Amino acid sequence: MVDVSPLRIEPAVPADYARIAELTVSVYADGGLASPAYHPELADVAGRAGRAQLLVVRDGSDRIIGSVALVLDGDFGEVTESDDEAAVRMLVVDPAAQGRGIGERLMTECLDRARAAGKKRMVLSTGPLMTAAHRLYERLGFTRLPERDWTPVPGIDLRVYELEL
Ligand SMILES: CC(C)(COP(=O)(O)OP(=O)(O)OC[C@H]1O[C@@H](n2cnc3c(N)ncnc32)[C@H](O)[C@@H]1OP(=O)(O)O)[C@@H](O)C(=O)NCCC(=O)NCCS
Repeated sequence: MVDVSPLRIEPAVPADYARIAELTVSVYADGGLASPAYHPELADVAGRAGRAQLLVVRDGSDRIIGSVALVLDGDFGEVTESDDEAAVRMLVVDPAAQGRGIGERLMTECLDRARAAGKKRMVLSTGPLMTAAHRLYERLGFTRLPERDWTPVPGIDLRVYELEL
């Protein structure tokens, strides 16, 4: 049982990277959300630490039950096209804690940080099977940006969403 009452969202520290990797790979793999070829990139938390702000959510026992990578500059966002844009990638919530608003809180934190950094738009890519994520994004006001939809590898068709900040 996950105790989600006193949640804290904060930047990750290196001691968190192994747990972020484990959580991210397991959520994507168990959900059939990514091909095994993508798992090494999902697990490379140290590699993305210099390219994105890594945020984690901790439960009352300090256990990490969610994480996200917020991209404020550089090319790690993949679908950003200008310095006005931020991106989020690899949003995950522990299945035992899903459905209680944690994903929404992580996304709201990213939106607040992007606005504080002067960004005008949040963009993100999502897979066709990520239906809970699509509902979350649409509830937050994201709309589709189909002209940026892309196919990183044949058979993986990603859809792009945007939100004006
Ligand atoms: C997408 C994801 C991060 C959402 O996390 P989450 O913590 O479950 O998100 P939320 O709780 O904010 O919203 C999920 C649902 O729970 C509902 N919910 C939120 N708070 C709730 C509460 N207190 N009680 C009951 N339901 C609640 C929401 O209304 C939402 O319902 P919906 O699916 O019908 O829209 C999670 O499903 C996940 O890890 N998915 C796999 C990875 C993935 O697809 N990532 C996206 C990459 S682009």
